[in-house]
Amino acid sequence: MRDEDSTYIGAFGDMFIDCQYQLIHGDTMENLLQFDSNYFDLVITSPPYNIGKEYEIKKSIESYLEQQNDVIKELARVLSPKGSICWQVGNYINKGEVFPLDVFYYDILKKHGLKLRNRIIWRFGHGLHASKRFSGRYETILWFTKTDDYIFNLDDVRIPSKYPGKRHFKGPNRGRLSGNPKGKNPSDVWDILAKDWESEVWNIPNVKSNHPEKTEHPCQFPIELVERCVLALTNVHSWVLDPYAGVGSAIIAALKNNRNAVGIDKEEKYISNALDRIEKLKDGTLRIRPMTKTIHKPSPNDKVAKFPEEWLQKVR
Ligand SMILES: C[S@@+](CC[C@H](N)C(=O)[O-])C[C@H]1O[C@@H](n2cnc3c(N)ncnc32)[C@H](O)[C@@H]1O
Repeated sequence: MRDEDSTYIGAFGDMFIDCQYQLIHGDTMENLLQFDSNYFDLVITSPPYNIGKEYEIKKSIESYLEQQNDVIKELARVLSPKGSICWQVGNYINKGEVFPLDVFYYDILKKHGLKLRNRIIWRFGHGLHASKRFSGRYETILWFTKTDDYIFNLDDVRIPSKYPGKRHFKGPNRGRLSGNPKGKNPSDVWDILAKDWESEVWNIPNVKSNHPEKTEHPCQFPIELVERCVLALTNVHSWVLDPYAGVGSAIIAALKNNRNAVGIDKEEKYISNALDRIEKLKDGTLRIRPMTKTIHKPSPNDKVAKFPEEWLQKVR
């Protein structure tokens, strides 16, 4: 359904779970000014990096950051008291000099009263080969919260442990299992995206991608990356906002996990692509790379690698 001139509103779900979404074709700042305060449990985005992509005009880093400062001030206002901002960025590069954007964004987010909880590294194995510096193989997500009382559902994003049979070897718990039957904390270094995403999508211009999620957008988020943040940092029916939504990867990650979602993008073609992807998600035809749970395979003879008997009953 299209409401007014530029907002597309829809519902998602079945008789048990009912979620809403809004995709707004327009400018981020202009639209943020219309939103209620303290509304969203998660703001997650990959903003324009000011590197001259098809949807941006490159300007000085100073004026770019000044503009982003105004946007972040509004994002902090619309964030709920239990809410989080996940700000995913890489480098801005000028005449070969590298400006790590998270370093600059840290001060801006902090200035608006937000508190850093993790600086997450997401790592990929392929990309452009640099000749005058080491090739870049990671980007970062700055995870900030509005207060100290924030949503964090660690159990929903645990990953299988490498050595589930490991036991305490000294102290009062000696001999007892030291891990958690639900798995381990995924840590702040994420290489969940394995090879197919990296090699086919990330930063490789002119490659015709076979990746199931690839669209015409030049810098799309992997849905899997957003899903981990959505599951850990929001609850069912929370509201999630992507202020630079592109082809709607964050919106899809939210709806897929029964969260409400709002996305804004100034390019009509991306909004239309996002709407198309949501329709496919609804009818079950959207191709999504599933969340991976790859684990290191230790030697089968390794005792600590075996899943402990005590836990078998707990997870059944
Ligand atoms: C890095 S991309 C985000 C891609 C998105 N994460 C996805 O998976 O498709 C940044 C997006 O910001 C949008 N954008 C840039 N400046 C904007 C503005 N002032 N208002 C709204 N959208 C803007 C661009 O059109 C682009 O789609």
